Amino acid sequence: MNTTRERRFPDKFLWGAATSAHQVEGGNTHNDWWRFEQQPGVIRGGRGSGEACRHHERFAEDFALAAADGHGAHRLSLEWSRLEPRRGHFDAAAVAHYHEVLGALRRLGMTPIVTLHHFTNPLWIADAGGWESRDTIDRFAEFATFCAREFGGEVDWWCTVNEPEVFAFRGWSEGIWPPAVRDNSRALGVIAHQLEAHGRAYHAIHEADRLDADGDGHAALVGFAKHHVQLEALRPWHPLDRLVAHFERRVFNEAVEQATVTGRIDLAIPGARPVRRDVPGLKGALDWFGLNYYTRWRVKSLAREPHVATPGAPLNDLGWEVWPEGFRRALHSAARAGKPVLVTENGFADAGDTLRPRALFEFAEAMHRAIAEGVPVAGYLHWSLLDNFEWADGWHGRFGLYGVDPADPRGPRRRTRSAEVLARLARANALTPEVEEAAGRVALGARRD
Ligand code: BGC
Repeated sequence: MNTTRERRFPDKFLWGAATSAHQVEGGNTHNDWWRFEQQPGVIRGGRGSGEACRHHERFAEDFALAAADGHGAHRLSLEWSRLEPRRGHFDAAAVAHYHEVLGALRRLGMTPIVTLHHFTNPLWIADAGGWESRDTIDRFAEFATFCAREFGGEVDWWCTVNEPEVFAFRGWSEGIWPPAVRDNSRALGVIAHQLEAHGRAYHAIHEADRLDADGDGHAALVGFAKHHVQLEALRPWHPLDRLVAHFERRVFNEAVEQATVTGRIDLAIPGARPVRRDVPGLKGALDWFGLNYYTRWRVKSLAREPHVATPGAPLNDLGWEVWPEGFRRALHSAARAGKPVLVTENGFADAGDTLRPRALFEFAEAMHRAIAEGVPVAGYLHWSLLDNFEWADGWHGRFGLYGVDPADPRGPRRRTRSAEVLARLARANALTPEVEEAAGRVALGARRD
């Protein structure tokens, strides 16, 4: 294929980066993650979120970097525990802070894409049963209403929940995130509650946000972010590998992707209590589909390590396979929700920024191909603007277009070559020879790491 010919993206395509509050802000002491991080042994390397990137203080400067790189959009999350530290009590200083944050983005000409739940919970939510309690659905809908009313004049793009399936499996099945439970039945219940909460918040936001922030005729566009993982048998001839991969694909990808299409929650894994119910108001409760895509796992049944990377494939620093074709396929799956797809996350942990520039280019190519095949992609938000607190992996996964030293969060942000690749893409809104020049010409497939 001719990789130097200019290949354009659709007009008004949103280019930018994504972050989440707890991972970058620092000092989020009123949520369940902060409390979890204080326990010995739960965070790789022992360093918790702490001051993180001090983005709570440095947001204007960080956004200026993104704007200078041509980003026209930015995804961030509002920290529920800051805004509502006690039930029904909204903190005026936190509200003023997020107005400043959103105002800063608007002044720089960047469209905010605002997530309401990105894994963290106020302590009062966690202590009242968290996402296993149906009451949390009501509390979240109230929070969504508050945010839509308060920030609706600045925000049109709302993302209700981030990755219900990752949130649930990490916290309730693998038990490596709070509340550290290991019970698949309870994990399925949590996914179901998050999907229901999405449906409730969808209607609450449309009800409460009547202000069109940018005059494009839409006061609110509401979606959620789904983490799509390619899951395939390690040994294609092995019936059990294939069967397990099939079940995992169904519960992890398809069931969640189809919930707003059918209005039905249908979650099942062998050995766990299935959750099957029709949810009033969930069908059609989606204006756009948020796709988070990172990797493919090979399923190895009956093994201590049930998921492994494809042997010989290029890997990121966390051992995740970097496979552009998987992104193209994930975009097609996302399109089955019947709505425009917004890539709410895609990125590569790469402390040395060695593989990432080329990976970014090849993923942009894969996305361009998917668009040419008919997938309505509205934008691409790279994970992440800054190196940040990578949950249980601590500071080991460095995803930032801008490097941050966690020991010196007041120090300079270090621009990477990947930042330049994305900047060229965003400015040209096309795959041009200049983009490829910044990315390097050695194809990922030709690398041997
Ligand atoms: C999450 C991010 C995380 C990223 C990389 C996604 O699952 O939404 O919070 O940092 O993956 O692991």
